[in-house]
Amino acid sequence: MTLRAVKGMNDILPDEVGRWQHLESVLRRRIELHGYAEIRTPVLESTELFVRSLGETTEVVEKQMFILERSGESLALRPEGTAPVVRAFVSHSLHAKAPIHKLYYLGPMFRAEQPQRGRYRQFHQAGCELVGDPGPGCDAEMIDMLVGMLRELGIENFKVLVNSLGGAGTRARFRDALAAHLAPRKAELSEHSQKRLLDNPLRILDSKDPRDQKAIADAPSILDLLEPDDLAHWDGLRRALDALGTPYEVDAKLVRGLDYYTRTLFEIQGAGGELGTQNALLGGGRYDGMIQDLGGPSMPAIGFAMGLERILLAMHEQRPAARSTCFVAPIGERASYEALRVGRELREHGIVAEVDTRGGKLKNLIRRADSLGARLCVVIGDTELDRGIVLLKDLMAHSQEEVARGDIAGRALALLQTTPVKAEGSA
Ligand code: HAM
Repeated sequence: MTLRAVKGMNDILPDEVGRWQHLESVLRRRIELHGYAEIRTPVLESTELFVRSLGETTEVVEKQMFILERSGESLALRPEGTAPVVRAFVSHSLHAKAPIHKLYYLGPMFRAEQPQRGRYRQFHQAGCELVGDPGPGCDAEMIDMLVGMLRELGIENFKVLVNSLGGAGTRARFRDALAAHLAPRKAELSEHSQKRLLDNPLRILDSKDPRDQKAIADAPSILDLLEPDDLAHWDGLRRALDALGTPYEVDAKLVRGLDYYTRTLFEIQGAGGELGTQNALLGGGRYDGMIQDLGGPSMPAIGFAMGLERILLAMHEQRPAARSTCFVAPIGERASYEALRVGRELREHGIVAEVDTRGGKLKNLIRRADSLGARLCVVIGDTELDRGIVLLKDLMAHSQEEVARGDIAGRALALLQTTPVKAEGSA
C-alpha cells in the first residue's frame, strides 16, 4: 500500500518551494522594517492554553484541535499563534524588559477542518503581535502595513473590513441586544445557532447558514452601542486610516471566530475569486485582556495572522526567478577533478554551482545544465586543461568565450549580473 500524507496536510515539493521562499522573504523584510523581531514557540502547547484564550465555545476549540494525551497531560497542536506568543511573553516576563514589544512568527498551524481549496489541516501563518500600545494609531499602521505587503506581492484585488467589538461593557450591552433581537426568531435559526443563543450569541454573526443570515440581517449594530471610550478609539482608528489613505470598509457584522478580541477587529478578504469561499487572506484585532487572563500584567495588544497558502493562491504566477546557476561540465577523468575545484571556487564567490560528477558527452552535459535551469556552463576538457583555460557558455544568451582559469569566478559573476542578450546568428 502506498503511504500518503495525512488528510489535509500537504507536501511542498522542490519546484513549489521557490514561491514560498519568495513570499516568506518579502514578509520578513516588510515586517522587520516595522521593528518586529521573530519569536519561535513550540508547535505543541497545553490544551488548556487554547481553551482559556480562544474560548470554549469557539469552533476551533470545540471541534478543530488535534489533541494528544501524554503522561496524563493533554497537549494540542497549535491551531493559531497568538495564544502561544502570549504564553511565552508571560512565562518569560518579557513585559519587564520594555514597555512595547513587537513580535512576529512564521510557521505551521493545525486545525481539523474539512479540507478544501484554501483550507487545510496543516497550514502556515505569518503573524505579528504588538504588545503595550493601546492604539488606535498603531492599529491603523498595522492595517496599512498589510495593505502595502499585499500590493508588493502583486495582490490588488482585496477588501479591508474593519469593525470594533468594544470592551467588556460594550460587549455585554451588545450581547443582550443581540439576544433580545434573536430570541423571538429562535425557531428560524440553525440548530447550532439555537445552542449559541444561550452561551455565545456573538458567534451567530459568524454563521454562513442562510437561516442564520436571514435572522441577523436587521440585527442591532455593535457600532451603535459602543461605550464612550470605545467610541473614541473607533473614531481614532478611522481618522488614522483616513490620514494614511488606507482603503477600508466598515462591516459591523464582522466578529471573527475567536473570543479574545476587544475593540479593533479587521479582516482582509481576497476579491479576485481565486479563493472561492475561503477568501479570508488574513485577520486580526485587539486582545487587550488576554495577557492578564493568562497570568501576566494588564497590557493592551493587537495582532494579525495571514494564511500563506491563501496568499499564494491569490498571487499571480510569478516571473520565474532569474537563472543564476552555473553548471560545471567536465569531459574526461582529468577534467573531473578540476571541475570539483572550480565548483568549490564558484560557491566561495556566492554562485550556485552544480558539478556534473558523472561525466559524459558534451551534448548530454549541456542538456542536463539546461534542465537544471542553469544560466552558465563551464566546460573543461583536456585541451582546456592544457591551455589553463575553460570554456564559459552563457546558455541563455547562446554565447561562449574562453576564460583564463584564474578569472572564472569574476567573469561568471559579471555575466550573472547582466541580462542575457542572444548572440547574433544563434538559435
Ligand atoms: P484566524 O482568522 O483564525 O486568526 O486565522 C488567520 C488566517 O489564517 C486566516 O485569515 C486564513 O488566511 C488562515 N487560515 C486559518 N485557518 C486556515 C486553514 N484551515 N487553512 C488555511 N488557512 C487558514 C488567527 O489565527 C489569529 N491568531 C490572528 C490574530 C493574531 N489575531 C490577533 N493576533
